[in-house]
Amino acid sequence: MKKHQKFVEKANTALTQWFSFQPNLWKEDEYYRTKLASRNFITHADLVICGYLSKSFPIGTTVCEPGCGYGQLSLLLASVGFRCVGVDSAGTRHMGSIFLKERLLPLVGEVDFVEGIFPEVLGGRYFDVSVIGNIVNSGWHKWVSENPISKALNADTILIDTRTFGIIRDTYEQRKVLIGSIEEVGYEGTQLSGDTYVFRKRKGE
Ligand SMILES: C[S@@+](CC[C@H](N)C(=O)[O-])C[C@H]1O[C@@H](n2cnc3c(N)ncnc32)[C@H](O)[C@@H]1O
Repeated sequence: MKKHQKFVEKANTALTQWFSFQPNLWKEDEYYRTKLASRNFITHADLVICGYLSKSFPIGTTVCEPGCGYGQLSLLLASVGFRCVGVDSAGTRHMGSIFLKERLLPLVGEVDFVEGIFPEVLGGRYFDVSVIGNIVNSGWHKWVSENPISKALNADTILIDTRTFGIIRDTYEQRKVLIGSIEEVGYEGTQLSGDTYVFRKRKGE
């Protein structure tokens, strides 16, 4: 946390400012209201992911974050030199992520925010790494249940919060089914921290 303290503080301040201009959003957005109230906008999981990627991938690695919300993880990763694309279908959050990016300059480097439904909006674009945090309560679960999961996996390395991928999976058995379905389409899963797993594409697949 110490290493990213300046970033974390500026991100908290920027989101607070954003909501101060949008009082109705503040009332409606319980998810981010709760995060800000506990000064937990950048979570422990975000910092673990950033630490892992920094150790494992060179600067300039391309990273996609589907369902990025206000884009805090993409912004954090851009601040350490990754080239990030954050995608979100919620227009207000998308606008908020652009506001945050401007407020966090010059701490953040290369990051683009795209508004739309992943994966269609990226038109098959492939990345070195994809990171998927909480994407509960969305069209995502419907999308994944109606399409082969392989279509949603757009990178050689994918970090997924297995508890909150589309629906809440509170039990290990539920998470194991998800992990199995991703391994079936050519990835090898290993636990990074808590419910976050790293899936690496097996060679030749
Ligand atoms: C619970 S929020 C969490 C946001 C962020 N991942 C975080 O952990 O702070 C889930 C976000 O995913 C977005 N989302 C869900 N499915 C999506 C999809 N298929 N394409 C783009 N955005 C999606 C929603 O609009 C929402 O902003």
